[in-house]
Amino acid sequence: MTSAQEWQGRVGQNWATEWERTDRSFAALTPHLLTAIAAESGERLLDIGCGAGELSIALATARPDAQVTGVDISAELVEAARSRTDGLANLAFSVADASSWQADGAAPDLYVSRHGVMFFSNPPAAFAHLSAVAAPSARMVFSCFRAPSENLWAAEIARLLPPSQPAPPVDFPPGPFAFADPDHVRGCLRGWRDVTFQPLDFAYVAGSGVNPVADALSFFSRIGPAAAAVRTLPDKARAAFERGLLELVQSRHVGGRVCFPAAAWLVSATADNT
Ligand SMILES: C[S@@+](CC[C@H](N)C(=O)[O-])C[C@H]1O[C@@H](n2cnc3c(N)ncnc32)[C@H](O)[C@@H]1O
Repeated sequence: MTSAQEWQGRVGQNWATEWERTDRSFAALTPHLLTAIAAESGERLLDIGCGAGELSIALATARPDAQVTGVDISAELVEAARSRTDGLANLAFSVADASSWQADGAAPDLYVSRHGVMFFSNPPAAFAHLSAVAAPSARMVFSCFRAPSENLWAAEIARLLPPSQPAPPVDFPPGPFAFADPDHVRGCLRGWRDVTFQPLDFAYVAGSGVNPVADALSFFSRIGPAAAAVRTLPDKARAAFERGLLELVQSRHVGGRVCFPAAAWLVSATADNT
């Protein structure tokens, strides 16, 4: 589970300092998402949960006649996005909760997101709001993870963790895998029609460079399920976890990179607001 509060706190801060490595982890996914977005018309684009802004920057560059706005709930991530934007007059970033965001100009006609829509506490209300404030029949294209069992960067790390206390029963808690189930996503997309899902498998790059294994260990100590374990496990359990993580990362070190199988949906929909 990753809540809006966590994104506004430590998780967002870690992503803000790690944006080069989080962008890298998505590097094999992003071109497919950009291709899907390129097939859509749109002059006023909103990037939901834009993070450090890679998608927004790519779209503002590719569409000089469009206005692109990236919104994110984390001030640190918006600051990181602004710091890497150089003179793109058609791009703006804003700190905002997308579930209650209001346009200060014309309504958006194309929503996009790379893995930024799975963290709303009330997804049906958030998507109904986004539909209501969009241009008539606006389009939306986003990516999200499929099940943890298909995302070995998460599943293999989870297997190294000691059994945890049963969590309180919450269906689809906000988090990276909240949109793994298409039926659940369809139920969340209140105010949207023509919902489509395209599966996409990609290599999640955790380490590269001079020492890919050390790079991956350092990345995992900051981002994702291993980061929480390293921070919270008692000393003995943490030492065992770190030994297991080293072996796991070494086993995934091939051709100068540490990569894990990852699986996403590309989801598209039309606002049912006319
Ligand atoms: C997995 S990260 C993806 C970031 C970015 N799209 C990328 O691809 O690097 C999820 C992002 O959603 C943002 N987020 C979470 N809840 C949000 C909300 N209610 N409104 C706006 N942004 C939100 C987080 O702060 C975070 O930047």
